[in-house]
Amino acid sequence: MVSLYQRTAELQHQRAPQPRGFQRFGNGGANPGSTPATAAPQGRGQQVQPAGGQQGVTTGAIFLGAVQIMPDFADGRLYDEFIPLLGGAGNSGHIRVQYCFNKKDSTPLAIDQFDLLKVIGKGSFGKVMQVRKRDTNRIYAMKILSKSKIVMRSEVAHTLAERNVLAKINHPFIVPLKFSFQTPEKLYLVLAFINGGELFHHLQREGRFDQHRSRFYAAELLSALDCLHSYNVIYRDLKPENILLDYSGHIALCDFGLCKLNMGDNEITNTFCGTPEYLAPELLQGRGYTKTVDWWTFGVLLYEMMTGLPPFYDENVNEMYRRILEDELVFPDEMGNRAKSLLRGLLQRDPRRRLGNNGAAEIKDQPFFAEINWDYLIGKQYEPPFKPSVASANDTSNFDEEFTAEAPQDSYIADSNLSETVQEQFAGFTYDGSGGAMSLAQSMTMNNMDNYRS
Ligand SMILES: Nc1ncnc2c1ncn2[C@@H]1O[C@H](COP(=O)(O)OP(=O)(O)OP(=O)(O)O)[C@@H](O)[C@H]1O
Ligand SMILES: [Mg+2]
Repeated sequence: MVSLYQRTAELQHQRAPQPRGFQRFGNGGANPGSTPATAAPQGRGQQVQPAGGQQGVTTGAIFLGAVQIMPDFADGRLYDEFIPLLGGAGNSGHIRVQYCFNKKDSTPLAIDQFDLLKVIGKGSFGKVMQVRKRDTNRIYAMKILSKSKIVMRSEVAHTLAERNVLAKINHPFIVPLKFSFQTPEKLYLVLAFINGGELFHHLQREGRFDQHRSRFYAAELLSALDCLHSYNVIYRDLKPENILLDYSGHIALCDFGLCKLNMGDNEITNTFCGTPEYLAPELLQGRGYTKTVDWWTFGVLLYEMMTGLPPFYDENVNEMYRRILEDELVFPDEMGNRAKSLLRGLLQRDPRRRLGNNGAAEIKDQPFFAEINWDYLIGKQYEPPFKPSVASANDTSNFDEEFTAEAPQDSYIADSNLSETVQEQFAGFTYDGSGGAMSLAQSMTMNNMDNYRS
């Protein structure tokens, strides 16, 4: 049975209720004092504007009806039928449905089943490319990681965590993992291609976002972080470079390479990692930290979206660390009281007194988010305040030319001679895209991940 919905905005039917409305380090043991400076995004430091006038236009959905199909699973046959609608909201009639059954190809995935189209990003362990899967012609983003680089930097656990989190979590504002596979030298993550560009790119272009737009992105991110925390995962690397916009302007959080698993509410960890501008005070002080580091970084991000710069930013990284630990939080005059009060709560240095320490609900309940209906938000029912310019599913114009101008090649790595024991650690990496149906072995890997951790 397939249920069909249509957006009310298109139907002009009943209207749904209007809402009121840098470089990073990833390994343990790094010393903050010796960390190199990170260039700030350009176009920062401009003044905050009063709240913008672009209010969210709501679009609801009405139930058109359901159709019942009974295919005989004849491979490759295209069905093309008019089928009666059942049980819809006063709508009777038929709907034309085309469907086709294809047996799943059981050949293991490999790089030669993809056309490499464009380089769209570069990471610490390799490239991210836009690719086309040859059999379906579908476009994806492929993150390619070099195993030897991962091993050399003792990042095996983080890499496996990235794959495990992505395979397990299905959330509207988290980039979906489609497949993963490997060779003796490399790991390949095949993700949905999110082509509206990095939030970083848009923030750089515009300097800052108005309150309405900042709130929209913050709310979608808050619900993504809430979901991760509910799986006892800390994200640890929130920053505009890791936040993508999809073609319609919704958030897709990417880059789960610094996630930490098995972080129950009172669980403490010590690994020094993150991005300088976004490091929480307790992490800088090496005192051990909990899930609440993500609420500090969330505060930094919101502040940066609204003002153009992170709150304690300084070109000199050591001075920035001093400021994060000591300086008073100051706001531009134009910032509203609700935003100030939320930011004071999130950027509270004592993690036990920080907003969010008792769960994401206390952040959602803040007056700054009073206009947000969280069910609406999670259903992507709010019209995004900004729609990226995207011409087609393969458009890469929102990605930096520095990358897209490069020839898309999966670079050759000579036999990395990794030992069998090391290769065994990557054994569970391969993923066929079967979503939430994680095998017991995979979920055990997730639960036992700390055995590998620094
Ligand atoms: N699914 C995707 N769709 C579009 N672009 C993507 C996608 N995933 C990543 N990118 C682009 O590639 C860039 C680098 O990817 P990512 O952040 O995952 O790697 P990274 O920062 O090197 O992470 P790591 O430190 O784990 O290696 C992103 O900032 C983004 O611009
Ligand atoms: Mg990244």
